[in-house]
Amino acid sequence: MADFPPLKNDLIIRAARGEQTERAPVWIMRQAGRYLPEFRKVREDHEFFEICRTPALATEITLQPIRRFTGLVDASIIFCDILVVPQAMGMEVLMAPGPVFPDPLNTPADIAKLATHVDVQKELGYVFEAITMTRRGLQGEVPLIGFCGAPWTLFAYMVEGGGSKFFVKSKTWLFKYPEESKALIMRIADICVEYLIGQVKAGAQLLQVFDSWAGELSPDHFATFSLPSLKHIAAGVRAGLDAAQVPQVPLILFAKGANHALASLAADAGYDTLGLDWCIEPAEARKLVGDKVALQGNVDPNVLYGGREAIEREVKRTCASFTGGKPTKGWIANLGHGITPGVDPEDLRFFFECIHKYSATAN
Ligand code: CP3
Repeated sequence: MADFPPLKNDLIIRAARGEQTERAPVWIMRQAGRYLPEFRKVREDHEFFEICRTPALATEITLQPIRRFTGLVDASIIFCDILVVPQAMGMEVLMAPGPVFPDPLNTPADIAKLATHVDVQKELGYVFEAITMTRRGLQGEVPLIGFCGAPWTLFAYMVEGGGSKFFVKSKTWLFKYPEESKALIMRIADICVEYLIGQVKAGAQLLQVFDSWAGELSPDHFATFSLPSLKHIAAGVRAGLDAAQVPQVPLILFAKGANHALASLAADAGYDTLGLDWCIEPAEARKLVGDKVALQGNVDPNVLYGGREAIEREVKRTCASFTGGKPTKGWIANLGHGITPGVDPEDLRFFFECIHKYSATAN
């Protein structure tokens, strides 16, 4: 592994491991994105996936929110997309402006169109390069998070051919072709394992798995189709890092909409931290998971459109619910999903300031 500048702010790493911190570390899903004018400027001249594939551009964009919010934001997340994994498996993906797969998997016969063996280093080496370059660019200011999409969420995109409202095609697969669905989901999981290990070797200091469509599944389907692949990823990454004698990093799982599964995810899915959407009270989530995991989240992203008074009120309430009046422990502050393009960056700055103020243990 390369030699990187020493880390100056390890709040998120300590919180992810469940430790008490002087205040809650905070970062935002999609913090490098279209709400930032400096991001939109780079996008004027470059395609979305071109940026992902060009380490210097991906590094520049990853660093944008860190520069703008110096001292307020406690982690960076590598600029990329979950859909680079289907691309590595041989599928075409366009951003137009949402994701589009011109040739989706209509039936199990289409699985034959996927690459039989995926050389992760060859197909996704550009992400590893971007991670290494970003680690240098960060100069130890904050840790760098690597990520991938969860196999069920990626499977849904590959079958639907893009975003979806009713998930008719992917659900048809689960009901009609359950064995083929499971096999494909586990095949995706194997690639995720190798991809995440590569990210840590390249310099990622935490990892997050995004199961953005977990909430589309019934509890039974989540347990049958998604959970085994999520466990496989956590166990596989930990074993792979041990085998390569690379120190372990905290693993975060964000299974959006799957709050019904929180207790079982905390018990034995293998993740250090569980991300929460805004549809559960933090105190209730803490009761469900006990002390087994740290929690991340969970302010409704739309509060950032509600003005300063609403932002302060919601942050204060959320902090109280996460801490229960005790010192801040095992909590990473975040929104309950990604920030959206219309937000004024100065309102996000105010959100960060409120988190610092109201999560401070002295309060
Ligand atoms: O968080 C970060 O700042 C890192 C970058 C990041 C992006 N996508 C950049 C992006 C991350 C972590 C993702 C993950 C991702 N991508 C997820 C999981 C998180 C979630 O939101 O649930 C999903 C489902 C995708 C797939 C995807 N990529 C969609 C649905 C879209 C279009 C909708 C949208 O929000 O714009 C994208 C495009 C995308 N990925 C953009 C960015 C900044 C905007 C594209 C653009 O610049 O035109």
